[in-house]
Amino acid sequence: MANSWFLLLAVVSALAIISKTIFNQKLEKHLPPGPNPWPIIGNLNLIAFDPRRSIQSLCEKYGDIMLLKFGKFPVVIASSSEMARQFLKVNDAIFASRPALAAGKFTGYDYKNMAWAPHGPHWIQARKIYHMEVFSDKKMESFEHIRVEERRDLVSRLCSLSGKTIMLKDHLSKYTLSIICRMLISKKYFVESEHENSSSKHLESMVGELLDLNGVFNIGDWIPWLSFLDLQGYVGRMKALQKKLDKFYDYVIDDHEAGRAAEKDFNPKDLVDVLLQMAENPNLEVKITRDRIKGLIQDIFNGGIDSTANAIEWAIRETLKHPHIAEKAKAELDKVIGRKRWVEEKDLTQLPYIDAIVMETLRLHPLATFLTYHYSIKDSKVAGYDMPKGTTVLINIWSIARDPKTWDSPNEFLPERFLGKEVDVLFGSNFTLLPFGSGRRRCPGLSFGLKVLRITLANLLHGFNLKLGEGIRVKDVCSEDMGTAVTRPKVPLAVVVEPTLPHDLY
Ligand code: HEM
Repeated sequence: MANSWFLLLAVVSALAIISKTIFNQKLEKHLPPGPNPWPIIGNLNLIAFDPRRSIQSLCEKYGDIMLLKFGKFPVVIASSSEMARQFLKVNDAIFASRPALAAGKFTGYDYKNMAWAPHGPHWIQARKIYHMEVFSDKKMESFEHIRVEERRDLVSRLCSLSGKTIMLKDHLSKYTLSIICRMLISKKYFVESEHENSSSKHLESMVGELLDLNGVFNIGDWIPWLSFLDLQGYVGRMKALQKKLDKFYDYVIDDHEAGRAAEKDFNPKDLVDVLLQMAENPNLEVKITRDRIKGLIQDIFNGGIDSTANAIEWAIRETLKHPHIAEKAKAELDKVIGRKRWVEEKDLTQLPYIDAIVMETLRLHPLATFLTYHYSIKDSKVAGYDMPKGTTVLINIWSIARDPKTWDSPNEFLPERFLGKEVDVLFGSNFTLLPFGSGRRRCPGLSFGLKVLRITLANLLHGFNLKLGEGIRVKDVCSEDMGTAVTRPKVPLAVVVEPTLPHDLY
């Protein structure tokens, strides 16, 4: 008797499971097209070895919205400007969160920075702090002297190296690092200090590694029970890097605290001072802890330094590959600025061809193939498809910016296509070009990054003849990227610089 009851129970349970599966599949939702997933790995077999290229070719097969399974997790790839608009505008409030990945845990102070923070009070407060204390027009203006001084430093350093073959990117990274450190924490930490972790070379390599690790495809994120194996070694690298950066931040914060304690009626001088002052405010919705301060510093290190230096290097690389473009830009600079002074920020509105080069550079060479992961906080419908809560979304900005339906000769570098357009086409409101994203998660450093990119490119072209390093021919200049998430050039750029303005200007 007991056996028959047991058998009946087993049959009923099996039927329940089968009918639930069938019922779910029926109800289940109108999902975007995509390849059939395998149990456990989902579609990881199709993409794990070369995620960018594999996803691109799958997009060609399945169209501008595609559903993949990374392990058991749904990941939607949006590859057209219309689909980007659906996620970043029509449904922005639902998709403005981030998935909880290892990069956020181990390099984002357990999601206490801004870039990896889920949508919620901490992230809202962090964005407000940034807008008021770093990127407001008033703050940007007050930092102008820093940008001018660092630019002077850059051009005189380059001038002193004239005739020698140099790796341009090294100088650009040092320059963007200097500007950002001075805005945030004061330059002294890597110029004067003897501290083991604070030499500028060391910091530059750490921020480069930070940006790369924030873009990696980590298998343990998608098959969590495998994460302890750290198959690709990324988590180990994240932890090691974070340990080093943490030491540096502790040193900076301790020093700022000592400065505050030593001064009566202390006046904040940089972002760290402001954050320490805010940490004493009991009325803030989210308390500013030491880890949150570190997370917010890290955001600017991660977001601001390498991204801007990379973009300047790409622009120079394209002008070297297309000498007639460099000539045209120089002619504009000669006409508007003349040969007796450097370009200043107030001149930028008079330099449409420089802006066209900047726009075309960011079209062909966005910082990354996809925007940082977006993640939905509730069930929704997008473009007629069901999107369950917890869907991760990758916006394929690389493909959108090369879509032949939008762009003539999409793979060619043609700044002329942007003549007569304002740089605000880069701000993401028409979704055909999204180098900074769009909507709630749009890059908060946009105006700053763009300002530094425009003025630096203008001055490099104005004050130097940039030539290719010895033995490199124009046709050898490589404008391909490595095919990784962060679009770094395949081959570093070696150049020889030759000053062209009167000597006393350098
Ligand atoms: C040319 C330079 C830059 C480019 C191309 C760039 C691009 C981007 C992109 C594509 C995103 C992701 C947007 C999304 O998830 O939808 C982003 C986010 C972000 N960027 Fe930038 N960026 C640049 C400069 C900067 C600078 C100078 C800073 C700070 C000093 C910065 C700080 C950030 C931060 C903190 C985020 C995360 C925002 C959030 O999650 O709410 N970026 N940036």
